[in-house]
Amino acid sequence: MNVKIVLFNILSLLLLGVVGCESKEPTTSEKAKVRAIGDQASDILLSELKSRLIGAVQQSGPAGAIDACKLDAMTLTKKASTLSNIPVKVKRTTNKYRNPINAPDKWDKEALSFFESKEDVRDYFPEFYVQKIDQNGETHFRYYKPLKMYQMCLKCHGNTIKEDVRVKLKELYPNDLATGYSKGDFRGAIRVDIAKEYLQ
Ligand code: HEC
Repeated sequence: MNVKIVLFNILSLLLLGVVGCESKEPTTSEKAKVRAIGDQASDILLSELKSRLIGAVQQSGPAGAIDACKLDAMTLTKKASTLSNIPVKVKRTTNKYRNPINAPDKWDKEALSFFESKEDVRDYFPEFYVQKIDQNGETHFRYYKPLKMYQMCLKCHGNTIKEDVRVKLKELYPNDLATGYSKGDFRGAIRVDIAKEYLQ
């Protein structure tokens, strides 16, 4: 083997050892278990998001409902963990984020690219994505559930946004990336993080 390749491989291994994190392919059985937990936790979040939004838009119009889309990871985690009896960590993530708190990390980016690469494939869009991550000696899994745009989401994320909504969004999120969507577009994902020990 070429000396350069050998050196490169040794260096990569050393780097992995130092940084202490890598992602591996989960087994079929791990995937199924992660999916069951992830589906449950993300469904809790989705129904929470939709009922909050619909109620708030009906009550105070889209400009008044802007706060309703604010779901912080801590509240979500608490709710999903209590209801599913498993201590999961929940977050939303997307490449086109409105709140920088939702910006993707390197594993999120990998998952988002996976969904994005399937956006143009007719009649097929994956329902989920699972990652197995070894980080500082601990193994955990991430479940990603893709989010698509509904008609009602476009009031605040679409191409034509009412003036009062636009002004409020600009004020709260000056670097907003989350507009210009159309119905059916891939928006991002709900991420559910599960430690290996809870995968029974
Ligand atoms: C009333 C306005 C409004 C509507 C309607 C709305 N959103 Fe949002 N959305 C927001 C705001 C404001 C944020 C930023 C929340 C924050 O600060 O965490 C946001 C954030 C998000 C995020 C988190 C990622 C990011 O960009 O920061 C996702 C995902 C999202 N919205 C999806 C949806 C989906 C799907 C729908 C339709 C079911 C929807 N939104 C409808 C206002 C809205």
